[in-house]
Amino acid sequence: MIQHKQLQNGFKYMEINNVYASAKIALQGAHIWAYTPKDKSDLLWVSEASYFEEGKTIRGGIPVCFPWFGKHATDASLPQHGFARTSLWKLVKEVVQADGSTLVRLELRETAQSLKLWPYKFTLTLDVHIADSLSITMSIKNADEKAFEVGTALHTYLHISDVEDVNIDGLQNTSYFDALTQSTQIQKDPLQIDKEIDRVYTVSNRVSMSDKHHTINIEPQGSNTLVVWNPWKKKSASMGDMTKDGYKTMLCLETANAREDVRVVKPQETHVMGVIYR
Ligand code: BG6
Repeated sequence: MIQHKQLQNGFKYMEINNVYASAKIALQGAHIWAYTPKDKSDLLWVSEASYFEEGKTIRGGIPVCFPWFGKHATDASLPQHGFARTSLWKLVKEVVQADGSTLVRLELRETAQSLKLWPYKFTLTLDVHIADSLSITMSIKNADEKAFEVGTALHTYLHISDVEDVNIDGLQNTSYFDALTQSTQIQKDPLQIDKEIDRVYTVSNRVSMSDKHHTINIEPQGSNTLVVWNPWKKKSASMGDMTKDGYKTMLCLETANAREDVRVVKPQETHVMGVIYR
């Protein structure tokens, strides 16, 4: 079943319930903010203090970062992580498949406003497949006459038992850029976290994250970077949309095209990136 709903303030979203899972997707940002497989715990974390308002990103779920990741390379006044996550997308497809799973396609194109921030015509498509796994595919078509460079992320906030329980396997022997120390390092062992972390790993293989309750496999496509982020106590306290202890039960593992992995897309070409969580 697919239902179209809105909050009292007019914030629009879709609620999907099928034999495999339930999910919620906001039209602003094509933002998946809940995915719960049947008889399992929530995959995604959402801050209890998150905004659900026009023009403000949801703190949690899966923000879509586009057309740049992080701060804009040359103009710090431009919105962090681009404009896709606060733009209103168009729903172009909602299909219940023969096997009972659900496919939702949302689309974003350039507007007069986006052209002021980023002077290119594009078609950005997000395909979300809700089954016993959650599969997300982002297609970036260059609809302009000149090539563009694009940075992206599916900035996923995973819901975890406690950040200090977490063990991340699959990053061993990869290099990472540590944004906190501005240095490049090598990851030797499976990753465990006991303080603020903000790193861009160079990795294209499957990574798995285990906590006390479950193991989540993260299978990327068209991405050679995975961002690992947790703001920890001090930084969270400076963020208006985090509660005091919120950081403990979240970890961002973001399938990305960041830093050296930004992509050049030529006119009429399409770059496809995505991720499957199982
Ligand atoms: C991460 C970045 O992807 O997103 C961090 O690596 C950043 O540096 C974090 O702080 C959250 O960003 P925002 O804009 O959603 O607060």
